[in-house]
Amino acid sequence: MTKTIALLILGVSVVMAANNAKIYGAKCGECHGMDGKDTSIAGKAIAGGTGALAKLTGYKNGTYGGAQKEIMQGNVTSLSDEELKAVAEYVDTLK
Ligand code: HEC
Repeated sequence: MTKTIALLILGVSVVMAANNAKIYGAKCGECHGMDGKDTSIAGKAIAGGTGALAKLTGYKNGTYGGAQKEIMQGNVTSLSDEELKAVAEYVDTLK
């Protein structure tokens, strides 16, 4: 029984991780690269950073950003808080 529950939890977290990657691929990869290392548009790589959720939330509510923050604002306002959290978790795994 315990084993079944453990496997179930493991399965769900694998599916969730895959979903995080899917949101990233659909909404972010074109500008930041699938590995988060594309610097041509954002001017810096997002891979290797930490605290993506704070930055993304900041873009959404207008408290974070540089010269091109309007671009990111447009990308995050359509995402729900759950999606933002999921995609931020994924960004923090990019090294
Ligand atoms: C149309 C191109 C584009 C798309 C799509 C895009 N970004 Fe960005 N992103 C940028 C630009 C440009 C910046 C720099 C904005 C600024 O001046 O603050 C940026 C900045 C960021 C930063 C902050 C980097 C830092 O350390 O200051 C993070 C994190 C980020 N993007 C994550 C994402 C995520 C996650 C997604 C998908 C939901 C995404 N971006 C989609 C263009 C894009």
